[in-house]
Amino acid sequence: MTKLRLIYVLMLLAPLFAGAQTKQPLVNGEQWLDTAGNPLNAHGAGMLYHDGKYYLYGEYKKGKTILPEWATWECYRTDVTGVSCYSSPDLENWTFEGIVLPAVPDDPDHDLHPSKVLERPKVVYNTKTGKFVMWAHVESADYSKAAAGVAISDSPTGPFTYIGSFRPNDAMSRDQTVFVDDDGKAYQFASSENNQTLYINELTDDYLRPTGRFTRNFIGQSREAPAVFKKDGKYYMLSSGCTGWDPNQAELAVADSIMGEWKVLGNPCTGKDADKTFYAQSTYVQPVIGKKNCYIAMFDRWNKKDLENSRYVWLPISFDNGTITIPWRESWSPADL
Ligand code: GAL
Repeated sequence: MTKLRLIYVLMLLAPLFAGAQTKQPLVNGEQWLDTAGNPLNAHGAGMLYHDGKYYLYGEYKKGKTILPEWATWECYRTDVTGVSCYSSPDLENWTFEGIVLPAVPDDPDHDLHPSKVLERPKVVYNTKTGKFVMWAHVESADYSKAAAGVAISDSPTGPFTYIGSFRPNDAMSRDQTVFVDDDGKAYQFASSENNQTLYINELTDDYLRPTGRFTRNFIGQSREAPAVFKKDGKYYMLSSGCTGWDPNQAELAVADSIMGEWKVLGNPCTGKDADKTFYAQSTYVQPVIGKKNCYIAMFDRWNKKDLENSRYVWLPISFDNGTITIPWRESWSPADL
């Protein structure tokens, strides 16, 4: 084959190779598949951008959902199986990287025993230590433990080594997220005091413990599912109300300084079912790297009686005319942002 002919054949074949990374619009509330064709299983998820790739970490909910017979409230749960990780170059095509923090089935006292609860894992990268640090909500089956669990890894795809759990600053810690500021300082945001008050806990330089410096925010306002982002020097927090697996109205708040004071802006959601956060609950906000003013608000549409079959709602945030809204969209594609 002459050189020219070879180039021609390669050009003809190019679309086939490109097909390996097909454009898959995200249809909100539908089942999303990974690149192997399996349902994406990453609930209460967080995201990390590292070395040109996005990593998605979430609750790997597998198997039957049960309501324990002693339940006095709707504490539907699945056995703990671990934290899943997916990677993607484009936010559309997600490759399963495995269970990066697995359950510990042979020790009934372990935080990660299947009989417990593991929720809302978030992973951050520490440039000083070169470690990937995961924070998650670890619970007893009756949700009385209210603690944070910390795990560490040398690689974004794990395996993560579980370090242990505690109540940051001796306060309850349930729905939570971790945010790293531009100066490298990290903060854990957690629903505390029986979910009534939101704590912002400053973390040590290695991101493994609280420093002891914290603030109490939204006192008595029962904010859950915190998702934090920064834009033009201001901090924003998206959160839900406190109604278990059932949807409620979202709220956006803004602050000039990360530890507060936070000022409530109101419900950012607009369009169909905006008063119920599109039947979903916030979990994370991910900036689209390299695109100005592009942020994706990520939500879970819980299916409380079949938690494994819960769905995802991801929506671009709109910053039109200085007003921040999250307009409903049936489907969209990150490639079109
Ligand atoms: C929600 C919380 C979820 C889960 C659930 C249990 O309020 O956001 O992460 O803990 O309660 O009912």
